[in-house]
Amino acid sequence: MQLRAATGLVIAFVIASTAATPAVNALADPPGATPAPTTRPMIAAASATIGIDLRLPTPGPTPPPTPTPMPTVMLPAPTPMSALARAADYVPPITNERPLPACKYDVDVPTTYSSLDDWQITMVDPTYTVPDTYAPNDLVSAAPAGFYSGYEVRSFMLPDLTAMASAAADAGAPLGLYSTYRDYETQVYTFGHWVGVLGYGQASLGSARPGHSEHQLGLALDFTTGSGGEPWAYYNFARDTAAGAWLSANAWKYGFIMSYPYGKSPSVTCYGFEPWHYRYMGRAAAADIKASGLTLREWLWLRQPGLGPRADRLLVFTGE
Ligand code: DAL
Ligand code: ZN
Repeated sequence: MQLRAATGLVIAFVIASTAATPAVNALADPPGATPAPTTRPMIAAASATIGIDLRLPTPGPTPPPTPTPMPTVMLPAPTPMSALARAADYVPPITNERPLPACKYDVDVPTTYSSLDDWQITMVDPTYTVPDTYAPNDLVSAAPAGFYSGYEVRSFMLPDLTAMASAAADAGAPLGLYSTYRDYETQVYTFGHWVGVLGYGQASLGSARPGHSEHQLGLALDFTTGSGGEPWAYYNFARDTAAGAWLSANAWKYGFIMSYPYGKSPSVTCYGFEPWHYRYMGRAAAADIKASGLTLREWLWLRQPGLGPRADRLLVFTGE
């Protein structure tokens, strides 16, 4: 209810153009400036090399309209756990050795892990999507962490968000929130807004198409300074503000990972550099991601369904 009211506020704001900034701003995440990467048909190339059909699209003069869905799961799936249990100290195992796919902005492939309890390995990017009906059933206000009550997050994030906000304030870098949970309809509006402002190509690099946003998972937070204001108003929020710099160095300790870091965005992450956008992963997983040096997208891809043991061996031993 709060979000729908907030969405209405934002729409009214845009139409009027003169109103004060709404308390909950749904228009987060402006596009990055780097061009979209080109396609790399790595699986198809591997199939050609080893002469075995790995069941992914075959290159040809007429590309298929949609990609083949993910292959059947043959490697062990993660053990079912409650969402709350995953938040504490769980690191999902690696199940996939396929190469990271190229970024594609014109397809919608249902992501494999779309149950609410699987939040930690739910992968959304410009290709993989959750259903329009995906909506966390445990959203709570971020008010107990010291933020405006209209911001909603998944319940199990709240203790770590509270601890992080307190530590940042103690370090002289008070945090603010700019956008948190956005439902599918809000993302329809948000993406449409940026398309209107920037055009489809640039908008696609900075705003997720509906169904593709980590904000719909209830796990993504756009931070700003304690004074508020758009974090992208700074040239580099992570360098030019105390809040952004503190988050960049310390957020992982509290379970939060910057989804689209500098240097790998958009080439690896598929979106432009967003120093304000963090996804909650739980402390143990965030520490694992930090130690791995991987982006969140790479780390999650390793935890998606694999090709199966036989195909994996063939890929590994292609050169023999
Ligand atoms: N800005 C990110 C990609 C989003 O819209 O979710
Ligand atoms: Zn964001």
